[in-house]
Amino acid sequence: MRVRCSDHSPEDVSKALSKTLADLQLDYIDLYLIHWPIRTKPGSRGLEAEVMLPLSLWETWSAMEGLYASGQARAIGVSNFSTKKLQDLVTHAKVPPAVNQVECHPVWQQPSLHNLCQSTGVHLSAYSPLGSPGSWIKGGVLKDPTLIEIAEKLDRSPAQVALRWGIQSGHSVLPKSTTESRIKENLDLFSWSIPPHLFSQFSKIQQARLLRGDFAVHESGPYKSLEELWDGEI
Ligand code: A2P
Repeated sequence: MRVRCSDHSPEDVSKALSKTLADLQLDYIDLYLIHWPIRTKPGSRGLEAEVMLPLSLWETWSAMEGLYASGQARAIGVSNFSTKKLQDLVTHAKVPPAVNQVECHPVWQQPSLHNLCQSTGVHLSAYSPLGSPGSWIKGGVLKDPTLIEIAEKLDRSPAQVALRWGIQSGHSVLPKSTTESRIKENLDLFSWSIPPHLFSQFSKIQQARLLRGDFAVHESGPYKSLEELWDGEI
């Protein structure tokens, strides 16, 4: 579960989780994430310029720590944090984030973030691990020639190789599918591996962030450019 951008004020973080727990009829959840490093007006839905508020990540994180202390969230984490934002949070937090859930796949491998996560013990969880080909993102990850070549050599599908790359990198992967045969295919990842001489080929793949976050960039907002949103990782 993730805290909406419009629930970043400390009282709203706690109220939002209480409502979620009531809706789900649960006493606690396993993992609660800050969805974006963006704060918007309470009650708003979009990320237009008019609803953007100044950032207050420490304040919001402190409220998350309160939920962790109360036991309502067994683990707390973040999503869409750049290497710099995660480093700052790890440095300042009383309870370090358990997870940073970000876009990550062979076409956006995030080496700096990967290294920081490895050295600080934050788990990197990959959304869009197949490049979300069926959504508005329409990523071409599964069409990448290097990925296809490696898949052919291993007699696996490009999707399986993309997912296995994530797992061998130490990440968790969150593939989505509405097709039973693909769900089975996407689970068949643990009886084989990518050998080192093929794993090293992934470094040849040209990198491109797919979910760039242009919707969060506004002249009057806290992020005036994509460079600022991602601290240069674009
Ligand atoms: P479908 O639901 O028709 O199976 P992501 O997890 O990166 O967001 O990507 C989800 C998209 O990838 C969905 O459109 C899904 O389509 C498609 N997909 C999921 N598994 C596979 C697979 N094994 N091969 C090809 N496309 C897949």
